[in-house]
Amino acid sequence: MKNEDKLTFVISLGGSFLFSNFDGLAQLKKIVNSRRDKFVIIVGGGKLARDYINFGKSIGISDTTELHNIGIKSTQLNAYVISKYLNGNFFEGNPKNIKLDNGVRVLVSGGYKPGWTTDVGSAYAAISIGAKVLFNISKERGVYDSDPKMNQRAKFIKKLNFRRLYELTNTERYPGMDYIFDPKAAKICEKNDIKVVVTKDVDDIINYPKISGSIIE
Ligand code: UTP
Repeated sequence: MKNEDKLTFVISLGGSFLFSNFDGLAQLKKIVNSRRDKFVIIVGGGKLARDYINFGKSIGISDTTELHNIGIKSTQLNAYVISKYLNGNFFEGNPKNIKLDNGVRVLVSGGYKPGWTTDVGSAYAAISIGAKVLFNISKERGVYDSDPKMNQRAKFIKKLNFRRLYELTNTERYPGMDYIFDPKAAKICEKNDIKVVVTKDVDDIINYPKISGSIIE
């Protein structure tokens, strides 16, 4: 997490968060603007991606790679808007190549490769930067033992290991797939000893390890 004397935070900013939590977005801006630390923020596609993928399908686009590409373009549009909002630098390249040694303090990016998600991109970004914690900000408080949208009695899980996350996650991959945290990204984090905080509370970024969300380690 250390980069010279400052910290570098890697954040997977879920599209679901983007379109539903304007206060949270404003709080993120406050945190980013008030600190000297560096931030790498990978922005998801959310409703825009799903609507566009469905639109593509409805007009006859059936090629899976092309539908993923429509998702990627949606994440990039969201990332571009957020880069302007946060006064950051928009980055369109491979997250495996992200470096912050060029004076960039706030780098904002979207998706990159068909079949990945922005969670996967942020896992690779964390490796590039050498971050040991990845913050996944979404609409949900954290990880639950079942989908809280479907089950009102779903139980919040404060701390879990990667194996438990895989048990709780459907592994089917398709354009517009929806995960609390993508298991493909989790595998990358597990292999590289990167902890994942899943939260809707942006203050968890600066309060870590005292978080209100879940931690996967
Ligand atoms: P995401 O899945 O990353 O957006 O991308 P999201 O659902 O808003 O993100 P989270 O889960 O809330 O963080 C939307 C779709 O874009 C394609 C996939 O089809 C994905 O389902 N995509 C995205 C890619 O193919 N490659 C990428 O690198 C990113």
